[in-house]
Amino acid sequence: MHAPPAIDELSPPDRTLLGPGPSMVHPRVLRTMGTPLVGHLDPAFLEVMDEVQELLRYTFQTTNKWTIPVSGTGSAAMEAAFANLVRPGDTVLVPTNGYFGHRMAAMAERAGGEVVTVDAPWGAPLSSAAVADAFDTHQPTVFGFVHAETSTGVLQPDVSELVEIAHAHDAFVIADTVTSLGGVELRVDDWGIDVAYAGGQKCLSCPPGASPLTLSDRAMDRILGRESPVRSWYLDLSLLEGYWGSERAYHHTAPITNVYALREALRLVAEEGLEERWERHRRVASELVAGLETHGLEPFVEETSWLPSLTTFKLPTGVSDEWLISQLRETYSIEIAGGLGDLAGEVVRIGCMGHSARREPIAYLIAAVGELLEK
Ligand SMILES: Cc1ncc(COP(=O)(O)O)c(C=O)c1O
Repeated sequence: MHAPPAIDELSPPDRTLLGPGPSMVHPRVLRTMGTPLVGHLDPAFLEVMDEVQELLRYTFQTTNKWTIPVSGTGSAAMEAAFANLVRPGDTVLVPTNGYFGHRMAAMAERAGGEVVTVDAPWGAPLSSAAVADAFDTHQPTVFGFVHAETSTGVLQPDVSELVEIAHAHDAFVIADTVTSLGGVELRVDDWGIDVAYAGGQKCLSCPPGASPLTLSDRAMDRILGRESPVRSWYLDLSLLEGYWGSERAYHHTAPITNVYALREALRLVAEEGLEERWERHRRVASELVAGLETHGLEPFVEETSWLPSLTTFKLPTGVSDEWLISQLRETYSIEIAGGLGDLAGEVVRIGCMGHSARREPIAYLIAAVGELLEK
């Protein structure tokens, strides 16, 4: 008989979360997570599913019937998009200007796609001209781009222009909106995006676990018309359709508590209003930039492609990212993050997302950085 381990009651530190995610969860969402479960096929839960779908359509600004929370984190919704839409042998165009474009390439390859790239430096957006050239050269069937690149703090401008180029070549567009949904302007239908996916733990003030995904009828028709089965059983949308579509039959047990949480987080989005929410993120993030500039931290990205929900800052001479990150954590219990990939050691990344996009936590961070740098 092994002895039972003596583990104390859970008591994580009380952090101010201002990194690239998770952001702070809204207290109403946390409270909702204490709601007792019903079964995932209970009529009461089926109603919750309808409500979540309706709220997601508003948040994505779409009328897409195929709008669901995928069980799992943002990468699960991302993989659902690529695994279903990409057929073996398809040419898939992805960007190289950040960490998540590279993840798109990995997922497209696993789905059997032939990956080609459109390049821009880390910290810069894709240019429409480069995307048009890549389409002329490679004639891809699927084009993935990252609307809000969390690794660099770049917001891709001119989305409808990129979509127009893709549609002129009869291609499908997948948008990574993990760090934009609910935080910066995103209009799936107006911009013509075929597939968009996101996560809960960024601008939605929700924990990770149930991740938004929306697909146009055109994209879903392609998926339902596949000859070869999707290479993932769990994320196969033709099977998930049985649960989230009209049939409501068992596929897998939905993460009920995460769906409750997402419902409450999306209710908060609807109460605040999307445009007001986008404006709040921009206003508070502008205060963050102005405040840190007074302490010598300069934004890394040009203003025209600045992403309010995630700003990358160059550090003053003599200050290392590791030192600043650990001092903020140890002395002030604030979480921020360092650079990834090409930007490792060059920048720090500071999130201003969801319930963290408020004056109080941002003012606290600015004051903490000021005190540390004065020392
Ligand atoms: C732009 C982007 N795409 C995809 C993901 C993957 O999401 P997750 O870590 O929730 O699986 C993230 C997470 O940080 C992200 O920022």
